[in-house]
Amino acid sequence: MKKIKTCIFPVAGLGSRFLPATKSIPKEMLVVVDKPLIQYAVEEAKAAGIERFIFVTSQGKSAIEDHFDSSPVLEETLKKRGKVAEVERLEALRLDPGQAVYIRQHAPLGLGHAVLCAQHLVNEDAFALILADDLVLADEPCLQQMIQEYTPQDGNMVGVMEVPMEQTHRYGILDVLQHKGKKVLAQEVIEKPSLEKSPSNIAIIGRYILNQSIFNYLQNQIPGAGGEIQLTDAIQAMLKKVPLCGYRYKGHRFDCGTKEGWLEANLAFALEQPDLRINLQKNLQQYFPLNSGNQKECA
Ligand code: UTP
Repeated sequence: MKKIKTCIFPVAGLGSRFLPATKSIPKEMLVVVDKPLIQYAVEEAKAAGIERFIFVTSQGKSAIEDHFDSSPVLEETLKKRGKVAEVERLEALRLDPGQAVYIRQHAPLGLGHAVLCAQHLVNEDAFALILADDLVLADEPCLQQMIQEYTPQDGNMVGVMEVPMEQTHRYGILDVLQHKGKKVLAQEVIEKPSLEKSPSNIAIIGRYILNQSIFNYLQNQIPGAGGEIQLTDAIQAMLKKVPLCGYRYKGHRFDCGTKEGWLEANLAFALEQPDLRINLQKNLQQYFPLNSGNQKECA
């Protein structure tokens, strides 16, 4: 089987849930501890063997392009000052010429439309897609887990997790036909169903391996939930011809498109770093005194 070498990163969304922080800074440039979200996404893709990086951007997102470009003045200055580690860190994040492509989505018409914008750049039978605002903390990077297990018979593969039933209206939800180890075969996918209409609590996260033919379906897709062209609607429309496989990845996913998720991710990723962990744990105790519940009761 041919390896998956291309990954699309849609980064053209409005980020309205994070305003005003995202007014002039792309949501994908929000920092978790010491790296922007989009860098975690690119590193995850690199670890999974991706060689072509397609960013679907929009007006006001040029910081993303700059982030993966060389910065001669900064690098020269750091070198002169003997800051070797810092220079190495900058060099490591650079994408080679020709590896990265930036295209524009002219209006935020939805995730499905953003993916469609990359159609003419994808030649392979299957390609990967990462939503950078879904950050996954895992021993083995999430996309790598999926690519290792993917076979063409899986059709479209989506990373999935279980969510509380009362949260299904925030996700694309699978109607599961069969469980096969870490894979689940779906017979339907519904975008943001209400609690009553939700067929399960198996929710899609921002990791996909998609069959090339999805572009044909996206071309004809009418706007769905939220008035946007939804990727899940196209996946659903394909189901008669292309199967849908959910993959239960190993790891913890943070929704960094929300304040709570982003704050939690900062804590979790900081606690992973030995130089931050001890002081952080100590300092956090003042915000969460162990007996605060009891004190309230006594007062
Ligand atoms: P979201 O659903 O999180 O939307 O997009 P958003 O616009 O970024 O944020 P809110 O809801 O206004 O707070 C999921 C992913 O799809 C991309 C986003 O950049 C994000 O990575 N996207 C979404 C696009 O590229 N284009 C779109 O038209 C919509």
